[in-house]
Amino acid sequence: MLVLGIESSCDETGVALVEAQGSATPLLRAHALHSQIAMHQAYGGVVPELASRDHIRRVLPLAQTVFAEAGRQLADVDVVAYTRGPGLAGALLVGAGVACALGAALGKPVLGVHHLEGHLLSPFLSADPPEFPFVALLVSGGHTQLMRVDGVGHYEILGETIDDAAGEAFDKSAKLMGLPYPGGPWLAKLAEQGDAAAFKLPRPLLHSGDLDFSFAGLKTAVMTQAKKLGGELEARKADLAASTQAAIVEVLLKKSMAALEATGMKRLVVAGGVGANHDLRRQLDAACARRGVRVHYPELHLCTDNGAMIAMAAAMRLQAGMAAATPRYAFDVKPRWPLDSLQAA
Ligand code: KG4
Ligand code: ZN
Repeated sequence: MLVLGIESSCDETGVALVEAQGSATPLLRAHALHSQIAMHQAYGGVVPELASRDHIRRVLPLAQTVFAEAGRQLADVDVVAYTRGPGLAGALLVGAGVACALGAALGKPVLGVHHLEGHLLSPFLSADPPEFPFVALLVSGGHTQLMRVDGVGHYEILGETIDDAAGEAFDKSAKLMGLPYPGGPWLAKLAEQGDAAAFKLPRPLLHSGDLDFSFAGLKTAVMTQAKKLGGELEARKADLAASTQAAIVEVLLKKSMAALEATGMKRLVVAGGVGANHDLRRQLDAACARRGVRVHYPELHLCTDNGAMIAMAAAMRLQAGMAAATPRYAFDVKPRWPLDSLQAA
């Protein structure tokens, strides 16, 4: 079964081919990505209308690249998968429209995929895929969740952010420091030269006794600190970046360990853009090694949005009998779509 996956929920156009044989873990045959970051950078954030228009321009050429790379043809595709939500409505509509048009033209079934399920299952694309069950830390630009994952489609949210997401905390703090969009990777890079103990920043909800997160207060604290520094900010920027990263990473680390303890699980899967953060990986690796817990990450280049994770999630859902691809080409998208509403029917 050859699955074509199309991702267009935000500012990355991703197309990929994943092949599933029997019940074996599906394999990535080819993937191609176009990031719109450079285009949105001038505005300091994603401009939804520009994003939609760029997806239209990129998606078919990317598909051609993928078919050429995999040595396959459009007619070889068995299922066309696309991101149905959550994300920007206009951007999602491009992927959904293209996927359903291709499906209709080929007479092949289509399947709308949950973007976060794509992130969640993206570590299965790596050479050393995890096994169920596991605790998942999903940390992206829009979401921060701890989940208990017992199998494909069996997701229980253990805790989540009550305000900003971890990626948002990185991005908004970086913006306050005058770093380009999206700030996460820039802040992380700057933090390498800074002293993480230089500024005392809050660790919101660290001792709340539950598995929820809150990052809005941290951003305010960074802003207050930046204002206090005034003209000195430039010289102390690396210290502020390192202190901010340390605060975010400590909360993610402690809550992940608490989730492992609460569930008694010995496996942690980290997914989403913030999962690319080296400091987070280093600290999770160390803490998990002490507890005899195995940690799995997606490959670095598959942490942020891509088509491979969408094709993979579709292939795994179909294999598990958790979804049926259908030849119904009337599509809708779900800009808001809670992951636990996917619960097995
Ligand atoms: O998963 P993703 O590509 O998009 C969403 O679905 O939201 O995640 C993007 C987020 C952004 O907030 C970005 O700043 C953050 O991931 N990010 C990082 C790093 N790389 C990407 N944050 C911290 N350190 C990084 N190395
Ligand atoms: Zn994402």
